[in-house]
Amino acid sequence: MHVRSYAKINWALRVTGKRADGFHDLETLFQTVSLSDELTFAPAERLTLSCSEATIPAGESNLVIRAARALGAPPVAIHLIKRIPAGGGLGGGSSNAAATLLALDRMFALRTSPERLRQIALALGSDVPFFLEGGTAYATGRGETLVPLTPSPRIALLLLFPRERVSTPDAFRSLRRFSEPIGIDRYRAVVAGDFLANPDVLANDFEEPVFARLPQLRLLKERLSSEGAAWAGMSGSGSTIVGAFRSEAERDQAAARFRDLRAEPATSGPFAIAVSEG
Ligand code: C5P
Repeated sequence: MHVRSYAKINWALRVTGKRADGFHDLETLFQTVSLSDELTFAPAERLTLSCSEATIPAGESNLVIRAARALGAPPVAIHLIKRIPAGGGLGGGSSNAAATLLALDRMFALRTSPERLRQIALALGSDVPFFLEGGTAYATGRGETLVPLTPSPRIALLLLFPRERVSTPDAFRSLRRFSEPIGIDRYRAVVAGDFLANPDVLANDFEEPVFARLPQLRLLKERLSSEGAAWAGMSGSGSTIVGAFRSEAERDQAAARFRDLRAEPATSGPFAIAVSEG
């Protein structure tokens, strides 16, 4: 089995309160993008994971291994080709976990119900349920209460990966205030209209505290705008900074100006985990 596992960005992210279970309630607009990892699965004597990226822990703590165990599938040897940077707010580990659930369910014809898959996914992480569907989605709760929205047109993106990494729990702890939710209709209108002309809606509550600690990230956001991005913002709790452009040509021109750090072109779109045989 071979699976492509896409990254996500958050076009918008509001943290609306702290919950009794220690998590936070969110209101976010998720979007899958073309940047992807690849996973292959082969029957084996025992469950193993190897990874193209030596810095990724491939043991029991890896979400791929945890997903395989949670599903209760027979043992497999898994290989992960990693392109989505870890700890960058792009949901790479969560996407890999969702990809593992879908691939093993198909490989062993487990016929797990969608509801059970969603439950297992949420137990693995708040972003994992979104990746079972992908595309453009409005999410509330921990991020698991999802409403798919009409996919936005493919938008040319430039993803900037600063060296600095942000710990998600630290980012939540550093928030000084919570936002009121603004409601699905506002997001629906943005998705249906001129997507990039809505900086007030397409905002991320984590920028204020993260930029206060890492001012170089704010500078990257400002640089994207001055290099022609129609919209720029941070994804998730960071540290990836995303620029959205009116055309691929404008994006490519801007990309040439970011040679001092890792910068990847990508597009937004209705990308969903794709499982294929072989
Ligand atoms: O669910 P996930 O494992 O991705 O969350 C990582 C950490 O981020 C949690 O342990 C929690 O500290 C924080 N978090 C949160 N509220 C959310 C999602 C994550 O507080 N909705």
